[in-house]
Amino acid sequence: MPYRFDVLISKAQIEKRVAELAAHIDADYAPLIGKGSLLVIGILKGSFVFTADLLRQLSLPAQVDFLEVASYQGTESTGYLRWLREPRIGIEGRHVLVVEDIVDTGVTMNAILHKLKENRPASLKLCSLLHKPSRQKVAVPIDYKGFTIEDYFVIGYGLDYEEKYRQISEIVLFSPERT
Ligand code: IMP
Repeated sequence: MPYRFDVLISKAQIEKRVAELAAHIDADYAPLIGKGSLLVIGILKGSFVFTADLLRQLSLPAQVDFLEVASYQGTESTGYLRWLREPRIGIEGRHVLVVEDIVDTGVTMNAILHKLKENRPASLKLCSLLHKPSRQKVAVPIDYKGFTIEDYFVIGYGLDYEEKYRQISEIVLFSPERT
C-alpha cells in the first residue's frame, strides 16, 4: 500500500539548522569543558540520524552515548515508559547534552531528564530537533531547538511510524491515506 508524503522540512533546511545548532553548542560549551569533553546522549531510536549529523558538525571534543526508552505505539504515547538501555558512560560530574528527535507532549523527555539528574551531571541541557508545543502536557525547557512544528505526525530523518521510514532524508508529514 503506497503512502502519501508531503515534505515539511527539506534536507537543505535540516542541514543548515543542524550547522547553526552545532555552532551555538560549540560557543556555549567551549568555556565550560576546558580540557574535558562534552557528553552527548542521543535518545534511541528516533534521534540516531540527528545525533550523528550534529556530532559531526561539532568542533569541540565530545563523547557520545545513547539511551533508549519505549513510550509510543502507533502515533500515540502510551504514557508508560520502559527503560530499554541506559548510557554506559558515567554521567556524574559531566556536562551532558541530551539530543532528542522531537518533544511532543514532553512526558518522555521530562522523565528522561529527571532520571539523568539523579546521576548528578555537572550540567544537563537538551537539544531537540523538533518541538510540537500545541501538544504539550509537561513543560520541558529546550536549550537548543531545531524547528517548531504544528500538530502533525511526522516521519523521516530518524523518526518512524511503526519502525518504518526512518531513512527518509527529509522530515515529511505522515498520512496513511492511500494515493
Ligand atoms: P512525548 O513523550 O509525547 O514528548 O513523545 C516523544 C517521543 O514520541 C519522541 O521521542 C518520538 O519518538 C515520539 N514522537 C512524538 N511525536 C512524533 C511524530 O510526530 N513522529 C514520530 N515520532 C513521534
